[in-house]
Amino acid sequence: MRISAAMRTTFREQGFLVVPNVLTEDQLATGRMLVAAELEKHPPEPGHVGFHFAWPRFEDGGHPLLELYREAVAPLAAELVRPEFGVDDPDFAQIATTIPPWSHRPGAPHVDGVTPLAPDGTPYTFSLLAGIWLTDQQEEYHGNLHVWPGTHRRFGEYLAEHGADALAELSKDTSGAPYPKIELGEQVQATGPAGSVLFAHYLLGHNIGGNTGPERRETIYYRLQAHGHRDRWRDVVIDPLSEFTEG
Ligand SMILES: [Fe+2]
Repeated sequence: MRISAAMRTTFREQGFLVVPNVLTEDQLATGRMLVAAELEKHPPEPGHVGFHFAWPRFEDGGHPLLELYREAVAPLAAELVRPEFGVDDPDFAQIATTIPPWSHRPGAPHVDGVTPLAPDGTPYTFSLLAGIWLTDQQEEYHGNLHVWPGTHRRFGEYLAEHGADALAELSKDTSGAPYPKIELGEQVQATGPAGSVLFAHYLLGHNIGGNTGPERRETIYYRLQAHGHRDRWRDVVIDPLSEFTEG
């Protein structure tokens, strides 16, 4: 049991949670090797600073990134999501790197999965984001994720008022940071040591931050769905905590 009741409360109230010291040294080394292998296939331009992503897919299973997910992340995710649902294995990962020196502070949050929309016009919603931190983010501006705590709940209230399909309307937002005009509050940077796992609610306002630290920031993200999520996404986004365990 790695997710305490206090952690579950933090996740429900703040919309995100950092669980420190999840990965073993071996898993950390494996993760860094897998990131290096993906970046070899999709390298950044020479001299590039700032963010650089790769999107390895593994629908057919049998991928070392899926094995790492199953070992390090799945047991924790299973303690956040209601057991009557369970969590589906992801079919892709996002390798997220931030190459220093990149001085940057995001001006606004975004929500994932609305630019572009799915072919049927619906947003690519999911339940929660999980991120394996392969590099140290104990200090700010080391490529930390910037988050706007509590926005997952206020976004849910907004959608309850305007209807779930107001989420798809955000695809028309051309600012580069699609998010509704709700009270945001202050942004904070998620912090913790290498080997932590971050969980963030799908609706939580977030954005990528700068990296003025000594090394390239490396995170492996997985977009996770509670089982059956896509069949009930309209109900979930207007009741954002409905897929998650209480207390
Ligand atoms: Fe995002």
